Amino acid sequence: MNSPLQTRTPAAPETFPGIFWCPDLISTRDLGPQGVEAVLHLTELMKSRPSVFQRALAGKQMVMFFEKPSLRTRLTFEAGMSSLGGSTMFVDQTHSRLDARESLSDIAHNLERWVDVIVLRTFSQETIEGMARHATIPVINALSDLEHPCQALADYFTLQERFGDLRKISLAYVGDGNNVAHSLLLTCACIGSSIRVATPKGYEPNQQIVADARKIAKQTGAQLEFLTDPIAAVAGVDAVYTDAWASMGQESEATERATLFQPYQVNRKLMAEAAPHAAFMHCLPAHRGEEVTNDVMDSENSVIFDQAENRLHVQKAILYLLLGGAVRLPVRSAHA
Ligand code: CP
Ligand code: NVA
Repeated sequence: MNSPLQTRTPAAPETFPGIFWCPDLISTRDLGPQGVEAVLHLTELMKSRPSVFQRALAGKQMVMFFEKPSLRTRLTFEAGMSSLGGSTMFVDQTHSRLDARESLSDIAHNLERWVDVIVLRTFSQETIEGMARHATIPVINALSDLEHPCQALADYFTLQERFGDLRKISLAYVGDGNNVAHSLLLTCACIGSSIRVATPKGYEPNQQIVADARKIAKQTGAQLEFLTDPIAAVAGVDAVYTDAWASMGQESEATERATLFQPYQVNRKLMAEAAPHAAFMHCLPAHRGEEVTNDVMDSENSVIFDQAENRLHVQKAILYLLLGGAVRLPVRSAHA
């Protein structure tokens, strides 16, 4: 609940990555390079020593409102909160938008009296931003039209497990310049890694996200490249990533997109252009036979289930950081 001072139960003080705190995770930009590093470091600790953290968020309560379906995000947040000693309430919001019945501000000022953290999956990024503006408790983006920050953090954690130093590897994202592409770009920029994004003309990433990623990349030395040629994008890379051609909410465009995106399908031929050790990545759910073929999905180099597993560990770290599991939290301003 919204107590003026929240303190942590020291969990693993000898190895904790240091002081980092941000009020919300609406965008990867909220974390910045220091926050991304803290999340990745803490994820490693929590994954290797889960028992140390099993009471870290005891008594804390999380509410989740999802306007869109979910398998991984819902279950990994619920399992993660439970494994930290906290509890969850899930509200199926797929029948109407979150603010259809009352204003976001009124909802926020109710929720902050009852629970400790709000997790939202919405059609619009503005809904998440609005909730965070009004609520005095942390708000986490569990996917919007614009970003999927928890996904990209889990993805880069997966790459770190496989390849080690993220500054020495390159990722190619091939397909739609969507929410997942945006969060990968921002996370890559924060880490100082290297990414190529290949999309058809007209489906490029959002220009504001690109500008922000470029700005962060200037500090970290990240390499960001934007192409339309999928073959040039994957040439020699360490990992190839794709996502649905039509995201949730774009179902009416699926047929048109299926034709346009066909050259961006990740199949054996395209994977052969990457490094021989290149990992295949997908946030899931996948549309087998569309953006990726079965043989690539099920290949030895596919890390899709590692990515899915790591959603759990990364989100535990995020909850721990945002809920004051690690540091004394400053008081947030009262009602906006
Ligand atoms: N990757 C991902 O967010 O999966 P869900 O839509 O099942 O939550
Ligand atoms: N881009 C996809 C990601 C699903 C996890 C979507 O928004 O539907």
